[in-house]
Amino acid sequence: MKNFDLNGKVVLITGASGGIGQAVTNRLYERGANLVLTDISAEGLNRTFAELNKERVILAPLDVTNMAGTKEVVLQAVNHFGRLDMVMANAGVGAKVPSTLLTIDVDEFTKVINVDLFGVWNTVKASLPHIIDAKGHVLITASVYAFINGVANAPYAMSKAAVEQMGRALRTELGGTGATAGVLYPGWVDTNIAKVAFGEHDVATKLVQHAMPGPFGRRVKPDEIALAVIAGVERRAPRIIAPKYWAPISWFRGVVNIFSDAMLEKDAKFQMLIRELERKQ
Ligand SMILES: NC(=O)c1ccc[n+]([C@@H]2O[C@H](COP(=O)([O-])OP(=O)(O)OC[C@H]3O[C@@H](n4cnc5c(N)ncnc54)[C@H](O)[C@@H]3O)[C@@H](O)[C@H]2O)c1
Repeated sequence: MKNFDLNGKVVLITGASGGIGQAVTNRLYERGANLVLTDISAEGLNRTFAELNKERVILAPLDVTNMAGTKEVVLQAVNHFGRLDMVMANAGVGAKVPSTLLTIDVDEFTKVINVDLFGVWNTVKASLPHIIDAKGHVLITASVYAFINGVANAPYAMSKAAVEQMGRALRTELGGTGATAGVLYPGWVDTNIAKVAFGEHDVATKLVQHAMPGPFGRRVKPDEIALAVIAGVERRAPRIIAPKYWAPISWFRGVVNIFSDAMLEKDAKFQMLIRELERKQ
């Protein structure tokens, strides 16, 4: 059932000029939404969205780790369009070099948590009063890393598990207000952030190939995620898992994780790759 018609809605997206943000932007624009497109890269925003009708779109450079800056952009959106119906807290980063918890650089660890957890928190916190006023919707981009083992990617997986909790708590806290929240769980998507595990770093690539069989180790196009986002948001879905074959892993995560964690811990080839990763730091 469609109970959140996107036509004419005001939607703010963070990390909008990245792969998933851009694909979602294009689909929202097509549906008639007014857009507040934000990204840390002003150049990325200008390059990516030069063609869009300026009456329906604001481009606002924003580093989501800056709470004051995030509040300012939200106010700018509300002042310009008179309301804010939806926010997609989507900006994210991975560690520059795939590392274990033993070898990861302390500043890198902090940076990933700052963007992927506190950046989402800042976005949600700054937007929430306006979303409630509009009986709107909050969408948090997590990842399948919210529920699979975060080996060699721990600060990322920790953040994604944390923002999943944020989305679930928020959904429940909003019960009865008319506003809603949902969590997006993309699998691997063909964007900049995923390049490291698909050719850019040889050991990270081998780790994914070894641990993620069949479709679980393949990337999909960003537009596949965008179409799932549109369909999910239009029915205010609590969860959007895309591609769909990841859904059973989420549903049965309690059992799946017991076996997958035990297998990875004892898998000699996998452990050899982990040691190789550590030696390369
Ligand atoms: N690509 C995947 O395989 C995949 C899978 C699951 C989840 N995700 C998540 O999807 C979201 C979008 O990632 P993507 O795949 O489009 O990658 P991407 O690298 O193409 O896009 C990320 C965007 O976030 C922006 N950004 C980075 N730091 C920022 C900051 N401090 N403030 C504001 N913007 C910032 C970047 O400039 C970039 O435009 C992320 O949260 C990512 O973790 C991606």
